[in-house]
Amino acid sequence: MKIVNARLRNLPGLYSVHIKNGFFDAINLQADHELIAVDAVDAEGHLLCAPFIEPHIHLDAAMTAGEPRWNESGTLFEGIECWAERKSILDQHDIKERAVATLELLVSNGVQHVRTHADVSDPSLIGLRTLCELRDELSDKLHIQVVAFPQEGILSYPNGLALMEEAIEIGADVVGAIPHFEYTRELGDKSLKKLINLARTHDRLIDVHCDEIDDPNSRFLEVLAAEALFADMGSRVTASHTTAMHSYDNAYCSKLFRLLKASEINFISCPTESIHLQGRFDTYPKRRGLTRVKELDAEGINVCFAEDSINDPWYSLGNGRLLRTLDFGLHICQMMGYSDFSRSLDFITDHSARTLGIEVDYGIHSGKPANCILLDGKDDYDVLRRQGEVLLSIRHGRIISRREPARVVTPTYLR
Ligand code: FE2
Repeated sequence: MKIVNARLRNLPGLYSVHIKNGFFDAINLQADHELIAVDAVDAEGHLLCAPFIEPHIHLDAAMTAGEPRWNESGTLFEGIECWAERKSILDQHDIKERAVATLELLVSNGVQHVRTHADVSDPSLIGLRTLCELRDELSDKLHIQVVAFPQEGILSYPNGLALMEEAIEIGADVVGAIPHFEYTRELGDKSLKKLINLARTHDRLIDVHCDEIDDPNSRFLEVLAAEALFADMGSRVTASHTTAMHSYDNAYCSKLFRLLKASEINFISCPTESIHLQGRFDTYPKRRGLTRVKELDAEGINVCFAEDSINDPWYSLGNGRLLRTLDFGLHICQMMGYSDFSRSLDFITDHSARTLGIEVDYGIHSGKPANCILLDGKDDYDVLRRQGEVLLSIRHGRIISRREPARVVTPTYLR
């Protein structure tokens, strides 16, 4: 396959991209707009970009909003209650059908790598079993990492630690924790230490739902970062949410950032989810409830954006479009300068690849797997502003999704 007249991120001019046996081959700057050959794909000056990555989603819960009841308060805690009720009637067919429908939505919007959490606060571990099975079934079509996520705590839920160990045996790629939801501060600290041990023993990545609360005293992030640093595994560790950081004292935050930087841990922020769930106990002013994305990024700490939920008890909207998530994130975090816009896709591509530990095989470079998407727009700013559609998604040199953008049929009405 050959793609001609493509723009590449941060490079001037048009490029032809050759794909051989499923890998990128020659990538050449064109002298001019190239005439389309019979076997070539004409990018028509659109942006060819590495695939989008969804680094934090809950596929086992997706598409269950309103079942058995709606989360009317909009709090994270009522979400957990609604989910506990829905969880009691899960079966494999139900999970698989909803997960596949959600993945199809993601794929059609340019996603080719997914990290999904699977709730393991459940003696049957049906969510984790089903998502691991689905990961294996779809392995030649899509890259999926499954996180063993203890929604109701590792130490506060009966046999929580044993369930985590069983989840690893079944095949979880990543292990999680939720220290701020454990019954006490001490249990939260202890759960993180157990987690680091589990990950080291079984050679797994770590992704913690960390300090997802407005409480400025929720300070499990410092424990996670310090433990990761001491264990020399920071790049394999992710702190998701860390919304309490929004409310931390600035002096404390300044001290904390030194540790975060040294630890090399990754961060995931979920802007639509957090602006919706946090600040629910405030009157006015209401906190935005997002972690300090702009400041973390300015320090060179790796941060990426994720959706977290699509149509579930915590967030009943969501549509698989990471460009929407990025748009929200940049607005809420006040990252609205041209320099922010012009590299904005980093937050749903390269930064996420680093979080998932897949950088080696990711990106449009000769010799790497030919995975890419064609976006309706010419650069990051243009794609972001116009919320450009994903026109093509190519995986291992094969087109897996194609979209014809809607056209207005009376564009000159006012002229
Ligand atoms: Fe989550």
